[in-house]
Amino acid sequence: MSQTPAPLSTWARNVSPSPTLAVDGKAKALQAAGEDVCGFAAGEPDFDTPDHIKEACIVALRAGKTKYAPTPGIEPLRQAIADRYAAEYGLKVTSGQVVVSPGGKYSCYLAVMATCSPGDEVIIPAPFWVSYPEMVKLAGATPKLVSTDDTTGFKLTPAVLEAAITPKTRLLIINSPSNPTGAVYTRSELEALAAVALKHNLYILSDEMYEHLMYDGVTPTCVATFSKEVEARTMVVAGFSKTYSMTGWRLGTLVAPPPIAKACSELQSQMSSNATTFAQYGALAALKEKEKTKASVHAMLAAFDRRRKFLHAELNQIPGIKCLLAQGAFYLFPNIASFGLKDQDFCTRLLDTEKVAAVPGSAFGAEGYLRLSYATSDEVIQKGVTRLARFCSTLKR
Ligand SMILES: Cc1ncc(COP(=O)(O)O)c(C=O)c1O
Repeated sequence: MSQTPAPLSTWARNVSPSPTLAVDGKAKALQAAGEDVCGFAAGEPDFDTPDHIKEACIVALRAGKTKYAPTPGIEPLRQAIADRYAAEYGLKVTSGQVVVSPGGKYSCYLAVMATCSPGDEVIIPAPFWVSYPEMVKLAGATPKLVSTDDTTGFKLTPAVLEAAITPKTRLLIINSPSNPTGAVYTRSELEALAAVALKHNLYILSDEMYEHLMYDGVTPTCVATFSKEVEARTMVVAGFSKTYSMTGWRLGTLVAPPPIAKACSELQSQMSSNATTFAQYGALAALKEKEKTKASVHAMLAAFDRRRKFLHAELNQIPGIKCLLAQGAFYLFPNIASFGLKDQDFCTRLLDTEKVAAVPGSAFGAEGYLRLSYATSDEVIQKGVTRLARFCSTLKR
């Protein structure tokens, strides 16, 4: 007699698949079927990886860099990352504190796995990047979501943070610039949050993935630079995906105090061995061939900035929509609550009737908003926002 297979694990049954990848996948399927879709869902730059980075990877492949690499990354890349933190932020770290992993997502996961155990609580300000709560659950810990909204610029305040802390709180996750809102905390706002974390002996995961995508002359802040005490409890995640248009390369970075970096490397040694060897040589060129890289990043930023301003102005012209002008990343997060529709229904109907793909705010723990990525062509943005306006005009308010 054949038995039905046993149920899948608690982890497999409890994990929610990424809703952003799901919306983007649906939009791409419609496109493949010949529909004229305006996609605002993708979380990746619409630019190609700069040529000098690709060339360095090709040279590495030809030179036979096709074997396992050291678990925490090839030494010249780890050193170049350490040098970058010194040059950009005055943060002095050794290459031994740097772990190169298969993507910023994986770096975040390593940081959570290294510091959280079952029963621990992790404070995640909402709106949040979709993967944080799932990673925390995979570590057996409990996500503690703390809401913010557009009235405070989607920023957590020290008082709200303090109120959410319990004896079980182990980790605070901060993400500035933010996915999904594009919000950027000022240095003093971050210092105030770090002071609360210090007072309660929390670890900090500072996800600085969008550190180089900033507008209006705003400059990035690295949380580990605040003081020796803050540095001793902070894991800084960044990577190559967004700044250098290298999403498919799967390369992330983590900079942490020596015992945490060692733990992350040991976890990685059992879970992925190393980030792809030849890809790391491409990343090395991104950091070493500074002038070429700077030129590519500047060109991309200029396009993003133009689109950001255009999309923001157009959205605020639509009766019923209110949108803050975010200063980082490549997202705007308009408020659509006045239409009285669940944001999920809003997005489904928008895609069905107007073929415009947007991710509902509820996917990020914030009902009543949309996440629109402007990492897409000016033409798609223009067409898409016109369709969005037409769609909104059919709704009651
Ligand atoms: C806030 C944030 N952190 C981390 C990541 C992970 O980036 P990667 O593609 O390098 O895994 C993303 C990607 O969407 C992100 O938005």
